[in-house]
Amino acid sequence: QVTSCFACYCDCTLPLLRFSSLLLLLPPLLLLRMSASVPSSSDLPLHGRHILVTGGAGYIGSHTVLHLISSGARVTIVDNLSNSNLEALARVEKLAGGIKLAFYQVDIRDAVAMEKVFQENKFDACIHFAGLKAVGESVAQPMKYYDHNAGGSLVLFQLLTKYDCKRIVFSSSATVYGVVQENPIKETAPLGTLNPYGQTKYVIEGILRDLAVAPVPEKESPWKIVILRYFNPIGAHPSGSIGEDPLGIPNNLLPFVMQVAVGRRPEVNVFGQDYPTSDGTGVRDYIHVEDLALGHVAAIEHGIFGGALCDKSCDSFNLGTGKGASVLEVIAAAEKASGKKIPYKVGPRRTGDIAACYADCSKANNLLHWRAAKSLDEAVADSWRWQSQNPHGYAAPENKL
Ligand code: NAD
Ligand code: UFG
Repeated sequence: QVTSCFACYCDCTLPLLRFSSLLLLLPPLLLLRMSASVPSSSDLPLHGRHILVTGGAGYIGSHTVLHLISSGARVTIVDNLSNSNLEALARVEKLAGGIKLAFYQVDIRDAVAMEKVFQENKFDACIHFAGLKAVGESVAQPMKYYDHNAGGSLVLFQLLTKYDCKRIVFSSSATVYGVVQENPIKETAPLGTLNPYGQTKYVIEGILRDLAVAPVPEKESPWKIVILRYFNPIGAHPSGSIGEDPLGIPNNLLPFVMQVAVGRRPEVNVFGQDYPTSDGTGVRDYIHVEDLALGHVAAIEHGIFGGALCDKSCDSFNLGTGKGASVLEVIAAAEKASGKKIPYKVGPRRTGDIAACYADCSKANNLLHWRAAKSLDEAVADSWRWQSQNPHGYAAPENKL
């Protein structure tokens, strides 16, 4: 059911909207899209494209929505708010110059409510973020993960087919590489899974690849599918007004470190210091969420509507920085950003963790004309700005563990 729908903006308001949004957006956004002069709205790469964003109220989704708008797209968000807060969208609206976002509080597994969204809108493409992502929970409750992630995706793909919008960018993960054999990881590396969450990403990727090679009935358009495999997203909008707001105890390193820095938790537990890495702790490819958001704009612009897929219907791209950082390096960056000592304790390895994982991003660099621009220090500084301005995230302190 549609429980909330902010005013949709129609095409006639777009030039004014985009111009005012562009003027009001913060300098980092402007710099990314402007050269010497303010572009006219029709120069914007996604001018007039209507993009359905599932999971758009979430961490990566909210940052991406902002960049889609600044790139000229019209955005409609579907999210059940199971891991997000409407306040994130209110802040995106403010950052985008006071626009009203079109939003449906709908669960993607609810085929009836989802169909209503498609009946009320004509989409040019979809970015599919919606899903559950907690690895540990997926081990404890695998059915829940297959239901939300795989089941929800099936409902979505059926509607994209029925309403002839066969253009999708899918949020996959480096977790589909399973036990990494060689770093940096190329898209051609063998795939494998380590847990039910990873298995759902692997299965959904497989469904998309099968759709891409299935014969297309006459009069139907072919699929255009971009699979994005994210490495480790961190950081926040440079304003500090939107960022990552995990429910309960964070599973991921950076939000945990930030909550220690802000005084919500006493110390960081370092999961093992006996890995074959420079300091013995796990190494990951931490990518600024702003770079990641721009990766989605590039995927839509060059992958879905441009020539990056060449004659293919489906292709996969790594989105990372190409560089690894250890747990201790992340803690040191957080101490620098916050000016606070961050206590930590080394404990045993976490089950299922691998020693090191970082991306070869040359395919996205070359075909999507995209490259991560921000450093680990910038990302951690932006995370700190978000965390220190919003020590309890979007919700009131009493609602937070
Ligand atoms: P997030 O939890 O902040 O965002 C996901 C959003 O989807 C949330 O707003 C949640 O309320 C919504 N959602 C969940 N189930 C839904 C359902 N059944 N129907 C409608 N909405 C639903 O997570 P995120 O970090 O922004 O991740 C976005 C996507 O990227 C996810 O698919 C995730 O698996 C993938 N990913 C994330 C990471 C990461 O480390 N953050 C890494 C790799 C891949
Ligand atoms: N770590 C700690 N202490 C913590 C949390 C993490 O030492 O409290 C360590 C881990 O052992 C690992 C590194 O910090 O070495 C990063 O761990 P995260 O949990 O932040 O990230 P992962 O690489 O394990 O997994 C994340 C997402 C997955 C996704 C993967 C690749 O959680 O969903 O990145 O994109 F699949």
